[in-house]
Amino acid sequence: MCPVFKVFAFAISLCVIPALCVPAFADEKEDADVLATLLENGGMYVGVDVCKECHEDHLTQIVRTKHGQKADSRTQFASQGCESCHGPGEYHSLYPESGGLISFSGKNTSPLEAQNGICLECHQRDKHLLSWFTSNHEAENMACVNCHLVHKPSKVLERKDQSKVCYRCHKNIRAQTFQTSTHPIRENKLVCSDCHNPHGANGPNELKQYTVNDNCYSCHAEKRGPFLWEHYPVVEDCTLCHRVHGSNHPALLVKQGPQLCQACHADVSIRGGTEGTTHTSRMYQFSNNDSSARMIVGRNCANCHSQVHGSNHPSGANLLR
Ligand code: HEC
Ligand code: HEC
Ligand code: HEC
Ligand code: HEC
Ligand code: HEC
Ligand code: HEC
Ligand code: HEC
Ligand code: HEC
Ligand code: HEC
Ligand code: HEC
Repeated sequence: MCPVFKVFAFAISLCVIPALCVPAFADEKEDADVLATLLENGGMYVGVDVCKECHEDHLTQIVRTKHGQKADSRTQFASQGCESCHGPGEYHSLYPESGGLISFSGKNTSPLEAQNGICLECHQRDKHLLSWFTSNHEAENMACVNCHLVHKPSKVLERKDQSKVCYRCHKNIRAQTFQTSTHPIRENKLVCSDCHNPHGANGPNELKQYTVNDNCYSCHAEKRGPFLWEHYPVVEDCTLCHRVHGSNHPALLVKQGPQLCQACHADVSIRGGTEGTTHTSRMYQFSNNDSSARMIVGRNCANCHSQVHGSNHPSGANLLR
């Protein structure tokens, strides 16, 4: 068939009213341009009633959440409905399979910037999101919806379910919570967000506090002091001696027994020294039986140095009381 005729026949086939055929033929390229633009920007806002025709379930779900409250003007649900998050839906309503929306799932998923962009339009100024753009999770190209659901209640906001969301990626932390000594994380008495802000924070490791010690003091205030006799590593960093999520040594310690102390006090021998040295062999014994040496049993070095975290006793210089 002659190609010119082919195009002509196609144009005819598009025409419903023959009298309009010629203009339609001329407008075809323009129409394609209009459609391309529609696809790009979604077209016009069509309102929640149009979406409802095909997605009644999603409407039912969202009106039970904070985002679906018409009375709360901050949600813009009264004015823009679904389109406050999914963007204008004219194109999508005409061609449901071909994208055109801001979409968070499925084959038409939008680029990350568009997804997070729409959430941040409303949430960027929230206090706990101020460090989002310097956070590890943002740097790892995570979407808000990697942790949050919107149509259904978000598990990550429930204390009893939060860690499950985090463990999808942080399996090593989960493993630590099964060690013999742990913070009560498995029992959900403590949750990740008691200590971390997953949206980013000014402290190391996304801690809510500026330093590791400030984090510990927020619950273990009695360890802050001030002490008359400080123990240098305690003031410096609790994690010189303690792990946080879990450890196989008692009291979340990094090492057990005298080895913990000897890592820094290498000169103190568990066998003790001779008469005249600070730690004499005699000092370490309960009796004449060397096997019950006080260096090793019970709280080992802390049998005598009981105030390992610092002492307020006038004669507590050696953390003995
Ligand atoms: C004529 C029916 C119809 C209307 C009207 C409609 N949708 Fe859809 N929508 C669908 C179908 C069908 C799909 C599934 C498309 C697929 O899987 O290919 C879909 C998919 C979606 C998706 C999943 C992401 C995507 O792009 O595939 C979202 C989000 C969505 N619709 C939102 C809306 C919103 C918001 C409105 C109102 C502005 C709306 N829909 C109006 C039929 C409709
Ligand atoms: C506050 C933002 C927001 C509003 C408002 C919103 N959605 Fe969604 N929508 C999302 C997010 C985020 C997802 C991804 C899945 C999820 O989080 O539940 C989604 C997913 C969808 C999907 C894809 C199917 C799925 O479950 O993954 C459809 C369809 C949809 N929304 C339709 C609607 C309709 C219809 C409305 C209005 C009644 C609406 N949405 C209002 C944020 C929103
Ligand atoms: C049009 C503004 C707007 C958009 C867009 C928006 N939100 Fe919200 N969001 C709100 C408002 C308002 C609240 C209620 C805040 C409150 O009550 O303190 C809220 C609450 C929330 C909450 C707490 C919910 C709860 O049940 O306590 C989460 C989590 C959340 N939004 C995440 C998101 C995510 C993720 C997106 C993007 C998919 C998003 N929001 C998009 C306005 C918005
Ligand atoms: C790594 C998981 C994760 C990611 C990614 C994430 N969030 Fe959250 N979000 C949480 C957790 C956990 C909480 C609850 C703990 C809290 O209150 O800090 C929360 C709480 C919220 C709240 C409710 C705060 C309140 O107390 O009412 C909003 C709003 C919110 N997130 C928005 C967002 C937005 C917007 C994004 C994307 C820019 C995002 N989140 C990304 C984990 C995440
Ligand atoms: C009691 C406070 C506390 C709780 C609860 C807590 N963390 Fe931590 N986390 C810390 C501190 C302090 C550090 C930094 C010191 C360190 O590296 O051990 C840290 C470090 C991290 C790190 C980076 C270092 C590493 O080991 O990979 C990740 C990831 C982490 N935590 C994830 C989690 C997750 C996930 C949860 C919840 C299941 C959680 N944390 C619960 C205090 C806590
Ligand atoms: C989709 C995967 C994913 C989910 C879900 C996730 N994270 Fe992460 N997170 C990462 C990646 C990747 C990094 C950066 C690499 C690293 O340090 O492990 C990271 C980093 C972190 C860090 C900082 C570690 C450091 O080295 O400074 C903390 C703390 C953290 N996540 C806590 C959480 C918490 C709490 C949750 C749940 C609310 C969570 N994450 C959910 C993937 C995830
Ligand atoms: C959000 C509160 C909170 C923070 C922050 C916190 N802890 Fe704890 N810690 C607890 C709770 C609760 C227990 C369990 C107490 C109990 O079982 O009686 C505990 C117990 C402990 C124990 C005793 C464990 C055992 O097996 O005997 C040590 C050691 C400890 N924490 C060290 C730390 C260190 C170090 C930090 C800082 C990195 C820290 N904690 C931060 C709440 C916290
Ligand atoms: C020099 C090592 C060392 C440092 C540093 C250290 N601890 Fe300890 N911590 C110990 C030892 C050893 C024990 C076990 C004491 C015992 O045997 O009774 C312990 C026990 C604990 C306990 C449980 C028993 C109790 O006393 O309540 C908590 C809580 C604790 N430490 C918190 C902290 C905090 C918070 C910091 C930082 C401010 C810190 N520790 C720094 C060595 C240390
Ligand atoms: C991370 C290193 C480190 C660890 C681990 C450590 N210490 Fe220390 N300790 C120090 C430093 C540094 C000083 C200050 C030494 C100085 O001023 O000469 C000190 C001082 C002391 C003092 C007081 C001496 C004085 O001059 O006031 C005693 C007693 C002591 N440590 C006992 C212990 C015991 C017991 C343990 C184990 C539970 C321990 N230390 C673990 C670093 C450490
Ligand atoms: C039987 C009790 C006892 C035990 C057990 C003990 N110490 Fe001591 N330690 C002392 C006494 C008493 C002094 C102070 C001596 C003085 O005043 O001259 C002292 C002083 C110290 C000092 C400060 C002076 C110096 O010698 O540097 C350090 C550090 C120290 N001990 C570390 C340790 C470590 C580490 C252990 C465990 C391996 C330990 N001690 C076990 C009784 C003990």
